[in-house]
Amino acid sequence: MESTKPIVLVVGATGKFAGLVVPELRRRNVTVRALVRDETRAAVARSLGAAEIAIGDLRSIDSLAEATRGVDGIFHLGPAFASDEAAMGVALVEAAQKNGVRKFVFSSVIQPTNTRLENHASKIPVEDAVYSSRLEYTILHPANFMQNIGMAWPSIRDHASFGEPFPTDTRIARVDYRDVAEIAAIALTEDRLAYATLDLCAGMFSRLDVVAALSEELGSPIAALEPGFSVWAAQARLPYTDRQLLLLSKVLDHYRAYGLGGNSLALRAALGREPRSLREYIKDLIAEKKSADARKEYRDA
Ligand SMILES: NC(=O)c1ccc[n+]([C@@H]2O[C@H](COP(=O)([O-])OP(=O)(O)OC[C@H]3O[C@@H](n4cnc5c(N)ncnc54)[C@H](OP(=O)(O)O)[C@@H]3O)[C@@H](O)[C@H]2O)c1
Repeated sequence: MESTKPIVLVVGATGKFAGLVVPELRRRNVTVRALVRDETRAAVARSLGAAEIAIGDLRSIDSLAEATRGVDGIFHLGPAFASDEAAMGVALVEAAQKNGVRKFVFSSVIQPTNTRLENHASKIPVEDAVYSSRLEYTILHPANFMQNIGMAWPSIRDHASFGEPFPTDTRIARVDYRDVAEIAAIALTEDRLAYATLDLCAGMFSRLDVVAALSEELGSPIAALEPGFSVWAAQARLPYTDRQLLLLSKVLDHYRAYGLGGNSLALRAALGREPRSLREYIKDLIAEKKSADARKEYRDA
């Protein structure tokens, strides 16, 4: 008997954020088709649960025509700080329409109308293309991802400190991307989030809030530091070009000047439960990192 499971194309399925959408879709009995750039990355997508692989590139219209054929829905997250992010997203929306795809979920950014930040402004043409289509869309406006805190684990573990290049008491809207992934999967498998544009934020937290939670959960004090941008970027070892780093520094300058506002109302309503809190994220982070560190120690012994 032929399978009637819906097929969803996931863009960024090998990434640390969109990769979280794959298991959420699998849990809802969806066949995940991953858009990956080459065969080596296909293995990563398969390990996360993708059943089908479309080798392609957001910069190749022909490959998007092929990748979107026969799918019921698409999840799209644009690559970070890419100069042609808007063109890539618009091309995907056009391919989706040509192939009669029904549902389209775009993981955009909170406050995309902040045109002083290029990575925010580049979401606007994609949103416009979605609104000017016949796709059944859901647009997600996630706040700063809590998972960015986890990228500082080596400094937290080895130096008992957590630094970011803006004041320690500046409050930033944050969201656990696992909640964003769950909402994306709901939007792609149910009707209740159709035609919604949702700000996704669990709350506003300062770095002092983050280190307080880290210190309590670890049982030893973690200091909140404020390094300059270049020191911070060098320590973070981000895989970015100078241009991408410049765009990121503008985001952090914006935080320094204004913080980042966000409200949890839409996230709570869309989930139908309380969002994952900062404390829950930190607890899970510590458990995950401690068990990964223990596995590494065992292998190295
Ligand atoms: N970080 C935050 O706090 C935050 C907050 C709100 C919104 N955002 C937005 O979230 C996005 C996060 O991006 P990320 O790069 O960090 O996410 P990511 O989940 O790590 O994903 C990057 C993925 O995109 C794929 N990719 C890159 N270029 C591609 C191309 N030309 N064609 C097809 N796939 C391609 C990569 O594939 P490979 O495996 O081949 O490299 C990888 O799977 C950005 O749009 C950012 O503005 C971030």
